[in-house]
Amino acid sequence: MERKMSESNFNRRDFLKSACISVGALSLSGCVDTDKSKSADGGNEGGLPSVDVLVIGSGGAGLRAAVAVRKSNPNLSVVVATKMMPSRNATCMAEGGINGVTSFSGGDSYKLHAYDTVKGGAYLVDQDAAIKFCELAGPTIAEMDYIGTLFSRNASGGVDGKESGVPGGVAQRFMGGASKKRCNYSADKTGHILMHACFDDAVSNGVKFLIDHELLEISAPEGKCEGVVLRNIQTGDFYPVLCKALVIATGGYTRMFYNRTSVPYIATGDGIAAALRAGLGFSDPEMVQFHPTGIKSGGALITEAARGEGGYLLNNKGERFMKNYHEKMELAPRDVVARAIETEIREGRGYGEGLGAYVLLDVRHLGKDKILKALPKIRHTAILFEGIDLIEEPIPIRPTAHYSMGGIEVTKFDDMSTKISGLYTAGEASCISIHGANRLGGNSLTDAVVTGKLAGLGAADYAAKQSGFGDGKRASELAQKWQAKFKQIANGSGKANEMYELREELGAQLWDNMGIFRTGEKLDLLSQNLEGIKARYDELHVADANPVMNTAFTDYVELGNLILLARCACLAAQKRLESRGAHTREDYPKRDDKNFLKHSIVTMNDAGELSLGYKEVVVTEFSLDGRKPQ
Ligand code: FUM
Repeated sequence: MERKMSESNFNRRDFLKSACISVGALSLSGCVDTDKSKSADGGNEGGLPSVDVLVIGSGGAGLRAAVAVRKSNPNLSVVVATKMMPSRNATCMAEGGINGVTSFSGGDSYKLHAYDTVKGGAYLVDQDAAIKFCELAGPTIAEMDYIGTLFSRNASGGVDGKESGVPGGVAQRFMGGASKKRCNYSADKTGHILMHACFDDAVSNGVKFLIDHELLEISAPEGKCEGVVLRNIQTGDFYPVLCKALVIATGGYTRMFYNRTSVPYIATGDGIAAALRAGLGFSDPEMVQFHPTGIKSGGALITEAARGEGGYLLNNKGERFMKNYHEKMELAPRDVVARAIETEIREGRGYGEGLGAYVLLDVRHLGKDKILKALPKIRHTAILFEGIDLIEEPIPIRPTAHYSMGGIEVTKFDDMSTKISGLYTAGEASCISIHGANRLGGNSLTDAVVTGKLAGLGAADYAAKQSGFGDGKRASELAQKWQAKFKQIANGSGKANEMYELREELGAQLWDNMGIFRTGEKLDLLSQNLEGIKARYDELHVADANPVMNTAFTDYVELGNLILLARCACLAAQKRLESRGAHTREDYPKRDDKNFLKHSIVTMNDAGELSLGYKEVVVTEFSLDGRKPQ
């Protein structure tokens, strides 16, 4: 029978609205386990809101985790909590593409993808995880295509339209550090387009969303996760939510570089900070990636795909200076290109001064048609931020803080589990050490969707084996603590701009002292200054006392997380006496495999003191001599 839209009473807005619930509705939607006899600890006595699997974060990783739960076990309830609209996150901002080998006829292979990933990561990569990751990456492209990602297409499929002969194959381009074209793309809006396919897929599969809910704390008494504390930003309510399994997919912490970053305002590492407080390790925190090409004003992303398509980098002499730094020129790994640009600027071959200094990216020779087809988004960015049309003029660019290679320490790639039972993590919040000291362009979207799915499957499997929820005592105590903290901090006595000045100062301190080039002296200074920033933060009060839509309190919580994570990163950077990938120590210019082929793991005790330990890197297939010494 033919069904007309007007008769079906259906529209997209209602469809999306139906996916948004409130915490109160957790019980109404059948998410609460009302059968108290099933609970391991005698039941969820206080009638706390509960859900079988709770996912925090609604980027690619969180959405794929939630869908994996729904598909693997429809009897489990799953909710995604997010502090924003589900579609507004760092996944959305990825431009160049998603790596995955989809055709072998041009000599590419999963092994070669893994080799490039390990080498690009300056060998701080757990090779067993990287190999499995690349094996899953290829099939994942087909999965993303299947759920509706509008990839750009080749006329006849395969790489460059020459190889597979399958009509309409997903188009692929080069990205930095890749020996083959394996970056699958949708013009230069890949993340945005992929994100919306993932969101539609989640809603269609019955995933429910708690929107405007920020994560404050993870409750994990005796090493077992029982739930979280959330704050409803709209109402100002604080509450514990119990779950049998938790997936942390809250993204990275690169917003700590407040004055120059390509990531959204929300990338404040909330999940990593909460995991640290709950007792988990923060792996390789010092490894923060600087993307070579942020737009001069502010650092928004100008995709590496511009160079993948053939764009040039030029200094103030009009030279393609990358010829002096790497045989792959503009398509060297990101850490190499970022250092080269900063060196040109430092040695007087750039333009401008201070934070506004820059070199040029020139794509004019690609021609208008190609630019409009393959790079429309960055054309728009350049017009918006610089008033420059890149069809006619080169664009001023400079490296920008872009990606956190570090994250929550993961114990097993296969299910993205952690040392806390029932706690899983995925995407940029996690560190299973696939990216090592420098992530390859195009591997982050793959990471999000691959590890998201694995974490969802792991969480679903774990949740199905639990007989009930925890008693929620610890979670309730933590919620009360946060409620009291709100009363104390958000009492209206703060100066309006104080917090935002401190945030700017944090960014400037990090850029100056823990940026692309680091030294022991600068890091020691940073460490002292961060203690000063923390002390001032501890005295802050929020100017707005109203609990409803108190976004200043959200800013306050986020800043606290950024300061904590910056202190971890600085500690690990101070003690890594070598140069490797994104961590360049001018006082230790060589890679030192003998002493530092190991992951930094920062932990925090109950008194809030940080300590640094190390974990061996897993080396299996690939020898360590492929990359030039730093
Ligand atoms: O340059 C870019 O398009 C960024 C991609 C990535 O970080 O993977």
